[in-house]
Order: sequence, then C-alpha cells, then structure tokens
Amino acid sequence: MGKINEKIYKVLCDIYTAEIGAVGIYMDQHTKCTDMGYQKLADTLKADAIDEMKHAEILAERVLMLGSTVKYQKHLLPEEKQCDIVAMLKLNINIEIEAIERLNTGITLCFHEKDHGSRMLLEEILKSEEKHLSDLQTKVNNIEKFGNQYIVSHLI
Ligand SMILES: [Fe+2]
Ligand SMILES: [Fe+2]
Repeated sequence: MGKINEKIYKVLCDIYTAEIGAVGIYMDQHTKCTDMGYQKLADTLKADAIDEMKHAEILAERVLMLGSTVKYQKHLLPEEKQCDIVAMLKLNINIEIEAIERLNTGITLCFHEKDHGSRMLLEEILKSEEKHLSDLQTKVNNIEKFGNQYIVSHLI
C-alpha cells in the first residue's frame, strides 16, 4: 500500500472517534441500568457497547493496513446524571442516526475514491448500526404503547 488517501483517512478516523464515544456512553448506561435493576436492558446496552468496540477495532486495523495510525480526537462523553431509561434510549437513537449518516457519507466517498475495501467495511458497520437503531426504536415505541407492563416484562 502506498501513502494513505487523506480523505479516506479523515473519514475512517472520524467514524473511529464516534465509535469510541458510543462505547463510553453505552458502557455508562449498562452499568447504571444494572445498578437500577433493569438487567435485560443493561444486557442489550452492553452488547451494543461491545459491537461499537468491535467497529472501532476494525477501523483501527484498516487504517493500519492502509499505512497510517488512527488519530485520537475528542469524542462524546456520558452525562453523569443521566438515569432516565427513555432519555437514554432516545439519546442512543440520535447517536445511531448520526452514525448511519456518517457511514453513508463515508461509503459514498470510498466509492468515488475507488477504495472498495474500505467501502465494504463501512457497509458492514452500517448494517450493524441499522440493527441497533431498529431495536432502540422498537423499545421506545413499546414503552410508549405498553408503559410499565413492557418495562417490567422486557427490560427488568
Ligand atoms: Fe458502531
Ligand atoms: Fe451502534
């Protein structure tokens, strides 16, 4: 591999940064949910955090393979006082929507720059984020529809 394409490098590092931010937020949420007794919800948040970590790892490996190293940047931080589960889920919905937008933009860039290896990698991550988003939306919709009954039977 020759010198890394600067545009591809920037997009991979920006997505990496967002993934690291999501790891921190989802970890913070799963420990708080465990503490509050929402064990089933905590388990799904923990699984999401692990998915985001794997995405970050794949991106770091790709950047290394392309001949550079990931650039560390400021990322999203958890809110210390955030203990409301609906607010948590809505925050995560926004994080996933932004991730999907960032990935779609990155995929288009990779296509135009003819880096189809990076493009396919971003497409795999995109499918994972779309699943996260869909599962989060289902939870919020069910809480709105069924209230405590859903919380007690599915999230605790
Ligand atoms: Fe991710
Ligand atoms: Fe995600």
